[in-house]
This record gives sequence, C-alpha cells and structure tokens, in this order.
Amino acid sequence: MGLKGKKILLIIGGGIAAYKALELIRRVRERGADVRAVLTNGGAQFVTPLSVAALSENQVFTDLFDLKDETEMGHIRLSREADVILVAPATADLMAKAASGLASDLATTVLLATDKPVLMAPSMNTRMWEHPATQRNLEQLRADGIGFIAPGAGDLACGEVGTGRLAEVPDIVRALDHFFGGDGPLKGRHALVTAGPTHEAIDPVRYIANRSSGQQGYAIASALAALGAKTTLVSGPTQLAGPSGVDMVRVESATEMLDAAQSALPADVAVCVAAVADWRAAKPVDKKLKKSNGGMPSLELTENPDILKTLSEPGNRRPPLVVGFAAETNDVLDHARQKRVRKGCDWIVANDVSGDVMGGAENEVHLIMDGDEESWPRMTKASVAQKLAEKIAGALSPQ
Ligand code: C5P
Repeated sequence: MGLKGKKILLIIGGGIAAYKALELIRRVRERGADVRAVLTNGGAQFVTPLSVAALSENQVFTDLFDLKDETEMGHIRLSREADVILVAPATADLMAKAASGLASDLATTVLLATDKPVLMAPSMNTRMWEHPATQRNLEQLRADGIGFIAPGAGDLACGEVGTGRLAEVPDIVRALDHFFGGDGPLKGRHALVTAGPTHEAIDPVRYIANRSSGQQGYAIASALAALGAKTTLVSGPTQLAGPSGVDMVRVESATEMLDAAQSALPADVAVCVAAVADWRAAKPVDKKLKKSNGGMPSLELTENPDILKTLSEPGNRRPPLVVGFAAETNDVLDHARQKRVRKGCDWIVANDVSGDVMGGAENEVHLIMDGDEESWPRMTKASVAQKLAEKIAGALSPQ
C-alpha cells in the first residue's frame, strides 16, 4: 500500500509556499501517484499554470467558469474522481471559506462538492495562524472530518518567526503515504485512546457530565493513526466527527467506557485522555424524577471505575505503554508526579486547566516519565498530539 496508483487532486492556494507545491508534485509522482491540480487565482500569482501542468503532466484547472473545462470535466466530477484532495498551501482565506461552506471559486466549490477525504497543509503568517478566527476555522474543519498536516515553526517569509510554515515536502508526502496505509513508525501497532466526557444517568433525561470537548483525545487518535497505528478511539459523547482512519467506539458512561477499552485490548499503547466522571448515581431510575412538594430528591453517588488505573494493572494484557493525563489547577507538576505513581501508568501528560484549556484550541503540557520530565511550550492541541504520537513511536521499540 502507499501512494502507487492513487489519484490526488492538489489544490494550490495563494501563498508564498505555493512554489513548494511544484516540488510536492514531483515527489508524489515519483511514488507512482497521479496528480491533477486546481490552481486558485492567488496560487497563480506565485506559480504559473504552465509549470504545474508540465510537472503534473495533466491539465490544470483554474477557473470555475471556464466553459471548456466545464464541458470536458465539471467541477463535480473533478471533486469525485480523486482518491484524496490535498490543499497545499491552505491559506487562512481558503480555510475560512471552506469552514463556512463558501463556493466562490473552483477550489472552494470542489471542497464543498466532494465526497472524498480532504487533507489540508496550512501555511500563513504566524499571527494569522494563531488568530482565534483561524483556530476556530481549524476546529470547525476538523469537526467536519478534514485531516491536517500541521504547519512547522521557524522563520517565515514575512520575516517573523513562529508557527505557520507549510510542512516540509517530505512530511506532506509521508502524511499522504500514511493516509493510504503506507509504512509509518507505528505500522503494525495497536493504539487505544479514550476521549471526551462521560455521561452518568440520573434518570432518563438527566445526567452528570463535565466540560471536556474531546478535542485533545481525538487529535491524539488522529496523530497515532497518521503514524500508521491501527487506532481505536473509545469516546464519550462529543460534538466531534470521528477522525479519518480511526476505529470509533462511542459510549456514554464510565462503565461502558471501561468495557469498551478492555474489549479493545490487546494494545501496544493506551492513552487515557477521557475526562471520566468520578461518580455516578448509585441508583439511576428509569422514570423521570418529579418535582415534589416535599423538597429535593437526594442523589446518592457511587464511585466510577478508574479506567487508567485498571488498564495499568500488571498482567499479560497490560499495554506495554500506558499514558494518562492530569488536568490540574495548581501544583501541576507535583500532583502529576504523584498521579503517575498512584495510577501505575508509565507516563502522565500534565496540563494546567485553570485557564481556557478545556474546550480551547491550545494546550501547554508537561510530560512526566519515569525519572525524566519534559515541559513543552504552549501549542495547538494538534501539535501536542503530533509530538506525543512521535514520542510514543520512539518509545515503542521497533518490532
Ligand atoms: O484522577 P484523575 O481523574 O485526575 O486522573 C486523570 C487521568 O485518569 C486521565 O488520564 C483520565 O483519562 C484517567 N481516568 C480514568 N478513569 C477514571 C478517572 C480518570 O481513566 N475514572
């Protein structure tokens, strides 16, 4: 498996990094894929249709209202004939239009009309990337099922330094290759991820829950899958679409989550990101509780199983690497170190949730390992996921 024989529709957005699309076309074709390109008006300011056509050895599509193209190949057919659509560079403008479903030119029309998977490789100035509007669009597009090839950090063409550089061409090729089931460092491995909140029924209409959005866990599942792992994501109720290439198991309560996690074993790595409710109603009732004149109903609680602790218990089904999360509001590192020992897991990813982390797009974490610790700078949840997935790939010895 891999890129051989695959049809890629490349949408080239209007950014300085558009020139890298030419190199990308060559590298992807070297691996046996066929490339058709849509060049946006902006993209055509940076590379010419002629060079794209020459390198792809295919006609280049540039304008929605080009009648000749519409008779030979309509935009609907164009959007459906590919195995994957890759947007590189994906500009802030293109992301914003796609996030709101605009169809104002050929590229955005194709993105709206397609029934094929879409991958985006963003590229823009770091402030534009970090702007809440772009981050909001990113989350929306992710929720719509679009995969992302994270931008790198470093010197930008505009002279600033920060995150926003188009991923390097080999990274984009690797991401595409993994997408098509090519070899990644986690190929042959099974990863289990828990994510989201749990809902604990009180009666048929009421439940105990928390504010977890599931974003971080979904991003981790997606990053592990992108590195080639067969990935099972056991998720509590969230608003998010299952990431592409991940086996989703949707559950409601902590007990269901534990059952689903245990049924997914054996796994080479388990990453417990779910914000499991600590308690559930001791006696959930099957009829809606009524307001009575006699005052409040009393709610008796009982403790939920600890999924992380259970998966960490020694035994032949224990995954060789078990990773937990610690959301703390104070003394983050101390609490996390204690938690690692108490839960019996191998690593703890600790974060400070006193700010806007829950539901927000960014996270600042510390990785607590046995005798070693790393503090990572504040970055998007997608970047935390990617870094953690790479760390996991490095820790699992080659098979
Ligand atoms: O004890 P605390 O909830 O702070 O621990 C957080 C870590 O434990 C997270 O990795 C979370 O997914 C996991 N956990 C669990 N089952 C529970 C409670 C927490 O897996 N019942």
